[in-house]
Amino acid sequence: MVLIAPSILSADFGALRAEVQALEKAGADMIHCDVMDGQFVPNLTFGAPVIKKIRACCKLPFDVHLMIETPEKLIPSFAAAGADILTVHYEACPNLKPVLEKIREFGMKAGVSLKPETPPEFLNSFLNELDQILVMTVEPGFGGQMFMESELEKIATLKEMTKDLSLKIEVDGGINPQTAKMCVEAGADILVAGTAVFQDGKYAENIKALR
Ligand code: DX5
Ligand code: ZN
Repeated sequence: MVLIAPSILSADFGALRAEVQALEKAGADMIHCDVMDGQFVPNLTFGAPVIKKIRACCKLPFDVHLMIETPEKLIPSFAAAGADILTVHYEACPNLKPVLEKIREFGMKAGVSLKPETPPEFLNSFLNELDQILVMTVEPGFGGQMFMESELEKIATLKEMTKDLSLKIEVDGGINPQTAKMCVEAGADILVAGTAVFQDGKYAENIKALR
């Protein structure tokens, strides 16, 4: 079954608790949190203290996507905030293996994300340390961008590379019912969507359309 992970980047930041509860009620499978530091990407969002507050009012797994420099420094804070899956960017980790090991030591699932220009083969030696691979289908930093079809081949390559493993492939950026279909056909297991879930405020209907 394909899982739907709404990104709260498109939510009303002034009412995050209610937004997360509404997503749970609308049938979301997990909550995707886009943490940005204004350095790794040119945008700034929220961090562990905010996640800790909203985590307490929702039973769904929290899928935390760190778009930050030196993510290893904040692994303990995100574990304490209740993150279930912690994803770092390949491009932000010159020494990835110990970062992934530390995420697991802190009791979370470990994910790595690839920007559009990063080749899938770069992950060959890390597959055993990974629970999830997040394929960016836009340049990270902002919601509401156009899906990059050029990334479909990367999804297929990663699916083939991981066929004997229980690892999940997640896609993020420009996902709507049309692009979702292409991604799932290429091998995606989890769909992140911001704009497509939040548009018109019809969360349940929008999640159903993605499924
Ligand atoms: C972009 C974020 C995405 C983003 C997706 O850097 O990682 O999660 O919120 O938003 P949409 O679905 O609007 O492209
Ligand atoms: Zn994301």
